[in-house]
Amino acid sequence: MDLTGKKIVLGLTGGVACYKAAELCRALSKAGASVQVVMTDAASHFITAVTMQALSGQPVFSSQWDPRVDNNMAHIDITRQADAILIAPCSADFLRKLAHGACDDLLSTLCLAKPRMLPLLVAPAMNVEMWQNPATQRNVAQLREDGVVFFGPAAGAQACGEVGLGRMLEAQQLLEELIAAFQPKVLAGKRILITAGPTFEAIDPVRGITNLSSGKMGYAVARAAREAGAEVLLISGPTALAAPHGVQRINVQSAQQMHDAVMAAVDGQHVFIAVAAVADWRVANASEQKMKKKDDGSVPDLKFEQNPDILATVAARTSLAGYPYCVGFAAESENLLAFGAAKREKKGIPLLVGNIGHHTFGQDDNTIILFDENGHTILPRADKLSLARQLVCEISKRLDKYSLFQ
Ligand code: C5P
Repeated sequence: MDLTGKKIVLGLTGGVACYKAAELCRALSKAGASVQVVMTDAASHFITAVTMQALSGQPVFSSQWDPRVDNNMAHIDITRQADAILIAPCSADFLRKLAHGACDDLLSTLCLAKPRMLPLLVAPAMNVEMWQNPATQRNVAQLREDGVVFFGPAAGAQACGEVGLGRMLEAQQLLEELIAAFQPKVLAGKRILITAGPTFEAIDPVRGITNLSSGKMGYAVARAAREAGAEVLLISGPTALAAPHGVQRINVQSAQQMHDAVMAAVDGQHVFIAVAAVADWRVANASEQKMKKKDDGSVPDLKFEQNPDILATVAARTSLAGYPYCVGFAAESENLLAFGAAKREKKGIPLLVGNIGHHTFGQDDNTIILFDENGHTILPRADKLSLARQLVCEISKRLDKYSLFQ
C-alpha cells in the first residue's frame, strides 16, 4: 500500500468541505497510513470528533489544554513522529493564521511548532471571492514562499451557490496528491508527452478495428511522471480510465488523430513516451454510412493502408532537434529479448521497454525489460504503478546523462 507506515496529522478547519475529510480519513487509512486527527473549534461546527475518531481509529485532539498527553504538550508531541501534516479543509482564516505564525489554538500551534523538515500540506476550501481576495492571495504567496505545499483548490459549483475557484479537491485526488508528495521529484521542471491506450480505426460509423490495450500501463506512467514533478500531457486512445489527477489529457480515436495531436504538442517536450498500442493499419475504404449485411452472403472488401509511425516520426525529429528524449514500448508475443533489442535500433530510440503483449493487456501487473545501448535490464513482476515509478527513475537517470551531450 502506498502509505504503509506513514503517520499523517490530518487537520480540519471550519468549512462545509469537512464532509469530504471523513472520506479522506478513510482513504488514508485504507492506503496504510495511521491518521491523527486534529480539529479546530470551527471544524467541530461542521463535523463531530466522534465521526473522525471512528474513521481514524484514534482519539481526536482539538484543545491545546488537552490533559490526555502525558507531558501536556500536545502541540509538540503530535508532530514529532509524523511524516506530514495535511490541513483539509484549510479555511481562509487558517491560511491567515499560518501565514502570520499565529498560535492561539492547538492546530495552529502545532503547525508553528512542527519540525522544520516536516511537510505542511494544505487543501484550501472557501468561497470564490474569499479565495480571490488579495488578502488571501497575499497569504497564499507568503505560505508558498515558506515552503507550504498547496493541493488545489479546484474550480466549480460551491456550497454557497456561487461558482469558481475555492472548492476543496475530492478525497481521492487529495490521496493521490499526498502519495505524490512522498515520491522523489526526479522529473521536476520537465515536460513529458505520453501516448496511451489502443487506437480505434473506423470501418463505418458504428464499427471499427481496435486492440486489447486497456491503457493501464500508459496511465500509470503518466501518473508516475506527474508524481515525479513533471508537467504531463497524455494523449489517449479510447479507454475506460479516468485521467490521473494533475495530468492534462487529450482524447483521440484513430492513429492518425493520435499522430496529429502528438505532432501539435511535441514542441518543447523534454521526453516522449510512446506507450499506446497504435494500429499499424487503417481501413482505406471506410464507409461513410453503416454497411449493410448482404442477402447473397457476400462480405465487405476491406482495403488497408499503413498508419504513420508516431514514435519513429518523433524520433526522426529528435535526431535534428535533440529533444524530446524518446522512449518506446514493444508488446511482443515471443522472443522478447531478441525482438526488443532489434526494435530499439530500428526505431532509432535510446530506450525501449519490452513486454509480452498478452501478459500485460488489461492486467494490473506486468514484467518489463528495458533495452538501451548497454543491453537489457529486467524489472520483475509488479503492479503497473510500481513499474511505472521505476521506469520514471530510469528515464530520469538517462535524461541527466543525455542532457550533458545536447
Ligand atoms: O513497431 P511497433 O508497433 O511494435 O512499435 C511499438 C512502439 O511504437 C510503441 O512505443 C508504440 O506506441 C509506437 N508506435 C507508434 N506509432 C505506430 C506504431 C507504433 O508510435 N504507428
